[in-house]
Amino acid sequence: MTQTENTRTILICHGTGCVSSKSPEIRTALEKETQRLGITTKLTGCHGFCQQGPIVIVEPDGVFYTRVGVEDVTDIVNSHLQNNKPVGRLFYQDPTTGKRIQHYRDIPFYKMQQRLILRNCGHINPEEIDDYLAVGGYEALKKVLFEMTPEKVIENINISGLRGRGGAGFPTGRKWEICSKASGEEKYIICNADEGDPGAFMDRSILEADPHSVLEGMSIAAHTVGAKKGFIYVRAEYPLAVKRLEIAIAQARKKGFLGKDILGSGFDFDIEIFEGAGAFVCGEETALIESIEGRRGMPRHRPPFPVQSGLWGKPTLINNVKTLAYTPLIIVRGADWFSDIGTERSKGTAVFSITGKVANCGLVEVPMGTTLHEIIYGIGGGIPNRKKFKAVQTGGPSGGCLSEEFLGLPVDYESLTSAGSIMGSGGLVVMDEDTCIVDVAKYFLDFTQKESCGKCVPCRVGTRLMFEILDRITHGEGTAEDLLALRTLGDTIKKGALCGLGQTAPNPVLTTLRYFSNEYLEHIKEYRCRASVCKDLIEFKVIREKCTGCQSCVRICPTGAITGPRSKPHNIDASKCIKCRSCYEICRFDAIAGNAIVIRTVEKKS
Ligand SMILES: Cc1cc2nc3c(=O)[nH]c(=O)nc-3n(C[C@H](O)[C@H](O)[C@H](O)COP(=O)(O)O)c2cc1C
Ligand code: SF4
Ligand code: SF4
Ligand code: FES
Repeated sequence: MTQTENTRTILICHGTGCVSSKSPEIRTALEKETQRLGITTKLTGCHGFCQQGPIVIVEPDGVFYTRVGVEDVTDIVNSHLQNNKPVGRLFYQDPTTGKRIQHYRDIPFYKMQQRLILRNCGHINPEEIDDYLAVGGYEALKKVLFEMTPEKVIENINISGLRGRGGAGFPTGRKWEICSKASGEEKYIICNADEGDPGAFMDRSILEADPHSVLEGMSIAAHTVGAKKGFIYVRAEYPLAVKRLEIAIAQARKKGFLGKDILGSGFDFDIEIFEGAGAFVCGEETALIESIEGRRGMPRHRPPFPVQSGLWGKPTLINNVKTLAYTPLIIVRGADWFSDIGTERSKGTAVFSITGKVANCGLVEVPMGTTLHEIIYGIGGGIPNRKKFKAVQTGGPSGGCLSEEFLGLPVDYESLTSAGSIMGSGGLVVMDEDTCIVDVAKYFLDFTQKESCGKCVPCRVGTRLMFEILDRITHGEGTAEDLLALRTLGDTIKKGALCGLGQTAPNPVLTTLRYFSNEYLEHIKEYRCRASVCKDLIEFKVIREKCTGCQSCVRICPTGAITGPRSKPHNIDASKCIKCRSCYEICRFDAIAGNAIVIRTVEKKS
């Protein structure tokens, strides 16, 4: 073995996704083999590409192994580490071209991203503070403590154009300024890591993969506004993030980056973790404060805003995980560097969690202003199975559903708002032609309606009424008047609700009514669901001329609704059919079967 080979390090992803598909076992097996070769292994956090996990990277070669199993360890060691022949069958396979790609840097999913706050994720060991220090960690804090005044820090954050990544996009420098000027000796800082949007996991990923970047951001913010105590409000369903934070806080205290007289500067600051019970509304800043104070998480009226009167009535700065993680970078690389990235009013990068009917699902970080097309087709690899794109939901459950004409839309706060959607948490759900848009609107409204805390009537009652109307439409019982009612209710809730949950909950309905009104009308007037999703509007039939009598559908039907002798046309008993689609799928998939099952619109019951 040569000198170069000995300097190799094997990075094994230990994010939640990869851990659940046995990456710790892979690490144990690799360690056993590599110790005798003098090669180091290192656990890392999530790479944001969990669908390809468990992920193993060999550095400095930059070889990216996907879907690694314990059984692959021998091949990696013998072939790659000992004989310099990387294991091709474990390379990432491009879903569009089918080609295997060896190096991390050449994979389109990563190549087209600009990873700023995700830069360390998957590359450093989040459980070792020295790893963070080795990549320049805590240099920003030192600069803030010894070379900058709080006013200078605020000036820098203002010039950078950083806006809060928790959803609303409030200018961060402005918020820090108001809090720094708020009167009172005692102030608090809260890192909002509630992340209640079901599709989003970027905040969890950052906490699991690079926790010190958030602690450093909190310390910078605390020093700037004059806070001595910080809380990280993280949901209890994120046990790995909590564990990594606990380790990081303990190590930061030991090295003098947290606690009394930080680095001899005279500045005292410490952080406590608060585990939330996991209600969506608890991400709303005033509900979050109620929750830390020991009450039920329900939003308060604003003003006063938390920066004036927050936790226990003291001035409190609340920022999202990502907002805080950007600040050390801005301090070190400069405000102008940051403001050169992005669009005129939305600076820097945005992190999206892309899911749904797209080839590559995962976390992507791109400059603000990148188009939806670039994200979905360039990074996401497009829609699988040659299906047609139908819509994309941006901003989580209370964001908007945008149609194909918006694919060229540059994604930033302003353009999304003008299209009726929001940036929100950065959730991005891609839908194909098999998605029923009315069903989707109902699904998202069902979520927000169930998560409504019930404090105010427009949200509590209004979302319920909207859900009932949508439910009727999907059952073929809608009327033309329902569409007007949905619009009126949506507008009223947006205007009348107390907090952002109610104010944004109607978005999926209002945008789908705006961009997909035809589909609503088809459900109501033609009793037709073009995506064949709404069960009351469809039936499954066998085309006798096409049926080969292969019996595949008979075997798969869970209710015994299909009968017929072998090699003869079959029948589906509508009274037994539960419309699970199993027969329809198998008839297409099975080579001997003949595409004989069709989904038809049922006759409207009079
Ligand atoms: C229903 C609801 C849920 C929210 N959830 C979160 C969340 O999970 N994380 C977050 O940072 N902000 C969330 N917010 C926004 C916060 O109220 C607040 O604006 C944000 O934490 C401020 O941080 P920023 O200025 O860094 O964006 C939510 C708002 C609403 C209305
Ligand atoms: S808008 Fe909804 S979630 Fe917000 S306070 Fe009112 S009832 Fe509660
Ligand atoms: S799977 Fe298709 S071809 Fe085979 S028996 Fe069923 S309907 Fe006929
Ligand atoms: S947990 Fe390994 S890539 Fe996300």
